[in-house]
Order: sequence, then C-alpha cells, then structure tokens
Amino acid sequence: MDLRMQDARAFVAGASSGLGRAIARQLLMEGCRVAICSRTADRIESARDWLLRETGCPPHHVLALTCDVTQESSVLEALAAAAGHFGGLDLVVTNAGGPRTGQIDDLSAEDWRGGIELNLMSTINLCRAALSHLRAARRQERHASILMISSLSAKQPIMSLYLSNVARAGVQGFAKSLSEELGAEGITVNSILPGYTRTDRLSHLSESLNERTGRSIEDIEAGWAANSALKRIGTEDEFAAAATFLLSPRAGFITGQALVVDGGAVKSLL
Ligand SMILES: NC(=O)c1ccc[n+]([C@@H]2O[C@H](COP(=O)([O-])OP(=O)(O)OC[C@H]3O[C@@H](n4cnc5c(N)ncnc54)[C@H](OP(=O)(O)O)[C@@H]3O)[C@@H](O)[C@H]2O)c1
Repeated sequence: MDLRMQDARAFVAGASSGLGRAIARQLLMEGCRVAICSRTADRIESARDWLLRETGCPPHHVLALTCDVTQESSVLEALAAAAGHFGGLDLVVTNAGGPRTGQIDDLSAEDWRGGIELNLMSTINLCRAALSHLRAARRQERHASILMISSLSAKQPIMSLYLSNVARAGVQGFAKSLSEELGAEGITVNSILPGYTRTDRLSHLSESLNERTGRSIEDIEAGWAANSALKRIGTEDEFAAAATFLLSPRAGFITGQALVVDGGAVKSLL
C-alpha cells in the first residue's frame, strides 16, 4: 500500500535511539522529511548520521535538534526550528525516555514530579507547541496528525512501574480530549502503546529489575515474552510500521484511538 507520505514534514521527539529513532527511519523511507530531537547533541547527531546511512535519503531531509521535551521553551524553539527548516510541519510524534522503576515505598515526591514531567507534561508541551504549525498545514489542505507514544501500562498497569502507570493514564485522557477538539479542524490525534520491545529502555528495565529482585536478566525477559500471546519481545521495526501507518493519510478516518502494539500482552477484551 502506498501510504502517500511523500514530502510530509515530521517532528519526532526522543529520537536518538529506540522507538523514536525507528519511527524516524520508517518515515524517511516513506519519503518524509524528518526533524529528530533528544537532550544530548552527540547522541542526536549520531542518530542523524545513522538515519542517513540506513535510508540513503538526502542530508537535508533529516534535521537533528537538541531539545529537552520537559522544558516548554526548549520545545517551542525546536518545533519552530523544524518548521523553519522544512517550511512547515504536518506530523508530530510525542515521545521521551521511560521513568524510573518503583512501587509506592520506592518513590519520593520528587520522583513523582519527575515522572509526570517526563511522560505527561512533555506530551502536553509538544502538542501545545505543535498546534500552530499543524493548523497552518491544514490551511494548505495538507494531512496533519499527532501520534503520542504511551505504554501498555495505560491499559494494564505494570507493578514495577507506578510512574508510568499514572503518567500514561493522563496521556490517554489528554489524547482523547485533544482528538475530540481537533477533529473539526481535520487534525487526527492517536496514541500508540508499546509492549515489551527490544530497545535501550528494555535493557535498562531488565537491569533495574535484576538489581531489585536478584532474578537473572534472561529470566526477566523470558517472563515478559511468555506473558504475550506471540511469546516473544517485539522489534523496533514492527512498532515503527504501525506508528507510520497511524500518521499517514491512509489512516485519515482514525482518530482518538489507542493502538496497543504488544504481541498480545494485554489481556483485556477491548
Ligand atoms: N521499549 C519498550 O519496551 C517500551 C515499552 C513500553 C513503553 N515504552 C516507552 O516508550 C518510550 C520510548 O521508549 P524507548 O524504548 O525507545 O526508550 P529509549 O531507547 O530509552 O529512547 C528514549 C529516547 O528519548 C530521549 N529522551 C529521554 N528523555 C528526553 C527528554 N527529556 N527530552 C528529549 N528526549 C529525551 C532519549 O535520548 P537522550 O538520552 O539523548 O535525550 C532517547 O532518544 C518511553 O517513554 C518508554 O517508557 C517503551
């Protein structure tokens, strides 16, 4: 299927590694021009070089920006720089790293504030800053869409990840509200909920659980795989394919939806 994304202009946050970088790669392969951001200049520049090697796209199709998505001013600057470079923005992917692990006795008030800033406020910051650009795209009758990277913890809380369980629930409420409001303007808003997917974050999670529980990393990861219907951990590319479709004009009648990409790990009916 032709996703009809040639020349779309995208901004992908948290894209120096993992799921964000994989989405950027897939968008470039579909012919989009893509701005990527993360907090660290050397990591985001390495990601740009990797994307250029992987996709063979022209250098001016990838813009690497340093931006901390928890900082409103940093987000405003990055989106303005991306829109300036590409002449506008059509697609925005909200994303950041995952919060620290822990249950009720493990987390301080500061940890709670940090988790909410990282995974909820960053999403809100990015969407607020993106709106003027997406509205400008719609005035030119271009397809405009927001995709929020959330987590399967929004559907089925993970006991070792209280911060994620709470912040992602907020993201889902925000996504549904925003989709309802922006629908009349023709801007689609969806979220995508990854299950256990092979990235740096997954390694960090299994190492952290290994330290807390003494279980081996192999045993922890085998447990995650066993809990899914497909009995394995997902790949970045599988996740990026679903994300890219949701951003494309071919998903133009899909909005307000939360797509779980988890190999069947969530056990609820709906
Ligand atoms: N992988 C999974 O199995 C899985 C499952 C469920 C949910 N998730 C969630 O999906 C999201 C992405 O996960 P991932 O596996 O791709 O993680 P990852 O490999 O750790 O990548 C996270 C990316 O976000 C960037 N980042 C972190 N904090 C940032 C900030 N404040 N501002 C801007 N960029 C920031 C990091 O780059 P810098 O360090 O250079 O800033 C990196 O590029 C996370 O929220 C994670 O919790 C992942």
